[in-house]
Amino acid sequence: MRELDSVERVGVVGAGTMGNGIAQVAATAGYDVVMRDIEQEFVDRGFDAIDSSLGRLVDGNKLTEDEAAATRERITGTTDLDDLADCDLVVEAAVEEMEIKQEIFADLDETIPDDVVLATNTSTLSVTSIASATSRQELVVGVHFMNPVPVMDGVEIVVGERTGEKTTALAHDFAEELGKETWESDDKPGFVSNRILMPWINEGIRTLDEGVATKEDIDRGMKLGTNVPMGPLELADHIGLDICLDATETLHDELGDRYTPAYLLKRKVEAGDLGKKTGRGFYEYD
Ligand code: CAA
Repeated sequence: MRELDSVERVGVVGAGTMGNGIAQVAATAGYDVVMRDIEQEFVDRGFDAIDSSLGRLVDGNKLTEDEAAATRERITGTTDLDDLADCDLVVEAAVEEMEIKQEIFADLDETIPDDVVLATNTSTLSVTSIASATSRQELVVGVHFMNPVPVMDGVEIVVGERTGEKTTALAHDFAEELGKETWESDDKPGFVSNRILMPWINEGIRTLDEGVATKEDIDRGMKLGTNVPMGPLELADHIGLDICLDATETLHDELGDRYTPAYLLKRKVEAGDLGKKTGRGFYEYD
């Protein structure tokens, strides 16, 4: 297995919210990064998000202009998975669909040297099932970043059925190299984070749907009452309601009725009100 000391180039599959965030923090930590998505348009949007995030970090004096410019220079965009062939570590952050992830991992298994660790940023899908698409299951691990990646301190390391101990250790060390702190979860539905977070959000939506309080008071109540930075409805909008619904449905399939998605969550997604990214979720955005 390629050790972390020898990792210079990191591949990131997916240039969406999570992928571009991971590419950014890896480049800031000094790695050369190849960020790949299936369309040039998605790669370009990923770079736009990175530019905007780096700008915010510079404005907040968390990064100098030079560090931001160096970060940006270390990231290359591509639509060709073969361009990841000389990466020493790959993190996949594509859409949360098992079939797609398995296809990507089968392709990576062919393209990437067989001593390279392949990590998945999956938030609720089974790392073991994703790894089963490869011939290197012991080198596949979950490295689950939180959104917004450049700001959130924590990364969840998910240990699949066949993940090797050295792979797990490398995943922790890699996340720490990026300035994050880690916790570890077994490969059980939703891991630690979403197993607890998704029902919290779902219950917040039910609380609104059942007329217990206004959306503002639900969010204020949880913020003031439990000291979290966002209430459940604001956080749902921040994550994306489609993503919340997908995750809750996966938990429901795996763990049963206690994870039944709220009716209002389904209705909002059907209406296309997906949160901040569409300008409207539980709240409205400019
Ligand atoms: N890039 C760089 N900087 C950013 C940023 C980004 N994408 N987003 C926010 N910031 C910076 C802001 O510029 C601001 O910086 P200054 O302090 O220098 O002004 C700072 O972060 C705080 O931001 P805001 O003032 O805009 O707003 P805020 O104080 O409410 O913080 C937040 C925003 C960091 C998102 C905070 O509300 C928060 O931590 N919310 C909870 C987020 C959360 O729970 N994420 C996990 C979701 S679950 C998940 O990701 C897993 C999954 O599988 C679904």
